[in-house]
Amino acid sequence: MEQFNHKLTQFFSHLWPAEEKVLVFGEGNADHPAIMLIGEAPGEQETLQRRPFVGKAGKNLDGFLQVVGLQREALYITNVVKIRPTKVSEKGRLSNRPPNKEELALFTPFLMEEIWRVQPRLIVTLGNTPLKALMGAKAVIGSLHGSMQTATVAHEKQSADFPIFPLYHPASIIYNRALQAVYQADLLALKALLAEG
Ligand code: URA
Repeated sequence: MEQFNHKLTQFFSHLWPAEEKVLVFGEGNADHPAIMLIGEAPGEQETLQRRPFVGKAGKNLDGFLQVVGLQREALYITNVVKIRPTKVSEKGRLSNRPPNKEELALFTPFLMEEIWRVQPRLIVTLGNTPLKALMGAKAVIGSLHGSMQTATVAHEKQSADFPIFPLYHPASIIYNRALQAVYQADLLALKALLAEG
């Protein structure tokens, strides 16, 4: 993926100085992995370590890996937006915010190319952001979670269908017990799917 990451760096260095916006690239098995996991955007820890899904999100990911029975290295892990979207809180601290329309529009074509290059056997999206990036604004996690979907991914003059298994974003269900049970059930459904091949 070096070539792809270089392309991202070139493109975004024209928009933002590197000291202002750190790019967090995808990582893992980029050669036809069983799962390509797609999150929303890096947070503070991800930006500091320049790796997706570390810190608290990494702990959530460990839970995911344990249930589905895969090693982190077997997956390709990335985010739709490769910079940390931030806002300044009332106390003057930098905090996370959801990616805005402009950021999504800038990064989504790169995500399509990334999928095209990785050629995953299955895409697992976490939350609404990656789901909508791949399936359009009408797709909502509340109705599509835990069921197989298809996304058409276009890159240059080619396009192909990829299977998607949408999951809730683990960070979004922390305070909702009912959704936690739904998330666990979805993970078991995913495990069963993987076992089927
Ligand atoms: N960390 C990431 O890398 N992505 C998310 O979506 C959340 C936390």
